[in-house]
Amino acid sequence: MKDVYHNFADRYDWMALKSPSRTAFFKNRFQAHRTAMLLDCACGTGRDLKLFKDFGLDVEGSDLSPAMLDRARKTLSAAGFTVPLHQIDFRNLHDHFPPRFDAVVCLTSALLEVLDDTDALHALQSMHRVLKPGGILIFDQGMSDAMIHDKPKVDPLLNTRDHSRLFVMDYDPDVMTIRICDFIHTETDRDFQTFTVRLRIRLLDDWKELLARAGFQKVDFFGSWEEEPYDKQTSRRLIAVAYK
Ligand SMILES: C[S@@+](CC[C@H](N)C(=O)[O-])C[C@H]1O[C@@H](n2cnc3c(N)ncnc32)[C@H](O)[C@@H]1O
Repeated sequence: MKDVYHNFADRYDWMALKSPSRTAFFKNRFQAHRTAMLLDCACGTGRDLKLFKDFGLDVEGSDLSPAMLDRARKTLSAAGFTVPLHQIDFRNLHDHFPPRFDAVVCLTSALLEVLDDTDALHALQSMHRVLKPGGILIFDQGMSDAMIHDKPKVDPLLNTRDHSRLFVMDYDPDVMTIRICDFIHTETDRDFQTFTVRLRIRLLDDWKELLARAGFQKVDFFGSWEEEPYDKQTSRRLIAVAYK
């Protein structure tokens, strides 16, 4: 199967801006739920595995993309961490793990890359199956009810001395296509590269239904890493914390 991230994995972490409120959000959740063992099932380049290792958690990572897993391996070993990493489609986690995790995370819109709703349900069911009773699933997305209402067309996400990144968005009724345009302007290099990702538009009501069908008992929805409750009219992010 084609690794869609193979041309993007090395540039992915341009986006990894430090966010103290995001760090605090996870710390609070994991303390409140006495999390010891965590699986990041779309671990990408491993930046959150590193964060969660820094918290002192026992972590494992999985992802579909060999290129992203390769980056994660390098990031974690450079930080001096040994973390088990697995190439697994998150619809099939239960084929690889018994229910031994206190928390599963699936971050930064990874679940929206699953375009088919039945597949998304299978993914949530699989995440549910590898959680211990009382365990939590956390996922988040930059897509929200308010944002889909406004349908922004461009987002100049990043502008540093060496790199700039622009998101260009298109919408059809069910799918948002994001063309990520990267400009490289170092002292020695000038380049332009793109990466395109298609995301299924899933909003609060879709997630409520899918999470209930997957067997989760209760879900808290937040609208920001500052722990504001999710508001359909104003929130620009959707964060779900679902309880098995
Ligand atoms: C936008 S990146 C997010 C990476 C990381 N969670 C983060 O927050 O930076 C989406 C990740 O989801 C992974 N992914 C997409 N579909 C997947 C699937 N079905 N199973 C496992 N990983 C998947 C991609 O390979 C990619 O690494």
